[in-house]
Formats: sequence, C-alpha cells, structure tokens
Amino acid sequence: MTSALSGVHLTGWGAYAPSYVLTNADLERMVDTNDEWIVSRTGIRERRIAGPGESTSSMAAVAGLRAIATAGLQPDDIDLIIVGTLTPDYPMPSTAALVKDAIGNKRAAAMDVAAACSGFVYGYATAQAYIVSGMARHVLVIGAETLSRCTDFTDRSTCILFGDGAGAVVLSASDEPGGTLGIEMTTEPSGAYLIWLPAGGASRPTSERTIAEHEHFMKMKGTETFKMAVRTLGSTSLAALNKAGLGLADVDLVVPHQANIRIIEALAKSLAFPMERVFVNVASYGNTSAASVPLALTEAVAAGRVKKGDRLLLVAFGSGLTSGAIALEWTADPAAAARAANIGPERVSVTPGYLNPVNPFPPALKWMLDDMTAGDGRKAAARTGDTEAVAEALNTATRVE
Ligand code: ACO
Repeated sequence: MTSALSGVHLTGWGAYAPSYVLTNADLERMVDTNDEWIVSRTGIRERRIAGPGESTSSMAAVAGLRAIATAGLQPDDIDLIIVGTLTPDYPMPSTAALVKDAIGNKRAAAMDVAAACSGFVYGYATAQAYIVSGMARHVLVIGAETLSRCTDFTDRSTCILFGDGAGAVVLSASDEPGGTLGIEMTTEPSGAYLIWLPAGGASRPTSERTIAEHEHFMKMKGTETFKMAVRTLGSTSLAALNKAGLGLADVDLVVPHQANIRIIEALAKSLAFPMERVFVNVASYGNTSAASVPLALTEAVAAGRVKKGDRLLLVAFGSGLTSGAIALEWTADPAAAARAANIGPERVSVTPGYLNPVNPFPPALKWMLDDMTAGDGRKAAARTGDTEAVAEALNTATRVE
C-alpha cells in the first residue's frame, strides 16, 4: 500500500541499560513499601540506575551507536539526531547536540523533543516527516532518561516506578515496500498536571524554597494517570492502525510504553488483544519514560519476537498528557543486531562542561556507591552482575567525587 508515509524504514535499533540494579528489596529498606505490593500493583521487580559517570547523553550515545552499527551505517551517515527526553543533561545545550559530539558525527542537525514518555514516538514521527519531505535520509531517534535524578526517594508512590536507560532506532529512506504505515499523535492538556516536575523552569525557577519543598522531583496523581493512560493508549493505537489501513488482527506484536503491567493488561483487555502478542519487560526496568519503547523493541528483537514482514504497533503515553502510536511493517534482518555486539560505554565520551564536576548520583542511593567502594568490590559485582562495569563505575566515581 502506498501512503503519504511510504518510504521510511526502521533500519537500526539498539539500547543501553546502566549496570546498577535497584531492587524492590532495596526499596523496602528506604520507604514503607514491600515487594509483594510493588509486584502486584505494577509488575516491577527491579530498575537500573545510571552511574556517577553517566548521564542521559552518555547512555543515549551508546544506544545510538548500537543502532547506527545495526543499520550498517557510520555515524557520519546520520543527517539528523533527535533525542526524546524529560531529563536532558542541561536545559541547554540540547542533549542531542552532546550525543552528536559523543558519537563522532560531524554533519547532522541535532535537537531534543519534549513529550515525556511519548518522546521517542514523537521523535519517530518528527524523523518520519523529515525523511518524507526529503530533508533527511538517515535519522537517529533516541529515547533516553536519567529519571533517578528527579525521583523523590522518600515518596513511595513514585520512587518504586522509575528507572534509567536508553534506546534508539535509525530511520532511513527506502523505496522498498513496508516500513512506517501509520502514525497518530495526541496531546490532552486537561491532564497536564497529572504527572509533572514543578520547579527548575521559567515558572518556578530554582530557589531555596523549591528545593526545600521537593519541587525538583516528579509528582504524579497515579490513579487518574492510570485511567487516562488506558483510554488514550487504546484510542491512539486504533487511530494509528486506521491510518495504516490495518486492523488489530493484522498486528503481530504490540510494543507498549512499559509503565505498569496493569496498564498494559488493561489496554490489551480493552482492545480484546491477546497478551501473548504484547511485549513486556517492565519487571526488569520499571518505567524508563522515553527510553521505554525503544528499549523494549530492542529486547523484543533480541528475544526473537520480531521477524521480517511482521506488523508492529509501538504505543506510548506520558506527561502532557501526550500519546503516540506507530504502525509499521518490519523489513530489517533481526540478525543485524550482531553488528553492534562490541559497542559499549567505553566507546563514547561526552565533552564535560567547564564548571567543576559534581557527582550527580542520587544522594538517597549513596549506599550503592558505598557498596562499590567497600572491600574488594565483590558485593558491587554481585549487585550489577558486571565486573567490568563496576570497575569503570568505580574509576568514574573516584574522579568526580
Ligand atoms: N507501597 C505500599 N503501598 C503504597 C505504595 C507503595 N509503594 N504506594 C502507594 N501505596 C498505598 C497508597 O498509600 C494507598 O493506601 P491507602 O489506600 O491507605 O490510601 C494504596 O497503596 C493504594 O494506592 P493507589 O495510589 O490507589 O494505588 P494504585 O492501585 O492506583 O497504584 C500506581 C498506584 C502504581 C502509582 C498506579 O496508580 C499507577 O501505575 N499509575 C500510573 C503511573 C504511570 O503510569 N505514570 C506514568 C508516568 S509517565 C511520565 O511521563 C513519567
């Protein structure tokens, strides 16, 4: 089928999750909660926490390099870099600009997209428009978040939900059939303050008062968000499929925003869509906001859940309240991910600002760093399951403290 969206294919994909693991048992020691409550109400068992030497741009750059390698491209083949994030390294410059530097691209335009958890889907739609218009041939779209740095670890209603990570895709122009088939994006400002981060912007600049009142952390009305999420995920999914000329029966795999297993199950139920054809990894990462969909997509491909010719539906919702869905036909060889096998955090270097370095690791999680530095590091290795990453984090922690 030829449509106004024809000619854009997902050619590369990749993700990065930091090594520190924060379990429900850890949270039990920090706030009045328990594993049984968290698992039954959210499906989350653990989440990843960015190390002291990591930031949104550094994680985004690793995921981005992996996606570029999977696509069989070089960094300089990319014409435009888009980062969806609500946790940019700085208000300015854009995180995308820092990613451009970190991946060694010399020629791309770079910008961030602010649509919270829908940031990746909105970024995808933006990339789509650039390619269809002929303004770009290869676009790197990244969703990346360091939510641990705006999470209130004294608030049990939010701190159990969020984690850090990054995911990326490359979208490329191609005359082959398949690729993007339908896109829907919505914004519902009546829910704008259901999930928000009050301070640090122009309306409530940082002051002693905003810090004292914990206004630099995410606030959420969970139950209202839950209801709106289920409704908007369903209607947005159907609208994207409608634009694609597809029905739910044509969809091989849904990759939804991983906020809460109950939201995902309620979505499937409301659409009468079988959970067997929905990819879920919320247990391992929690809600990573804009990183969630590309991280889940990358894991779905790695798990053999996606093959050439499959019809996929990517769908997200987030603060705004924004929502977006993409229907696409997968045309890439899933085995191409092997090209990214050797790309790790050591491959990226984010040029630091000129002010004195600070340790951005959440003070409430300092005990994780203490674990690292205690004894011979074996406790830390057990926590992260990755000795190389531990050694690297230790070096970095020493440098920035
Ligand atoms: N441990 C134990 N008890 C808890 C916890 C906790 N961590 N958190 C809340 N509770 C208690 C509450 O205090 C309440 O107790 P009460 O009945 O004595 O008052 C009880 O559990 C039920 O609380 P609810 O808020 O009604 O629980 P609910 O079933 O709604 O689950 C949750 C809460 C998990 C937050 C759910 O509402 C949810 O997932 N909402 C959507 C969140 C979401 O998707 N956010 C997206 C963010 S997107 C972005 O842009 C960042």
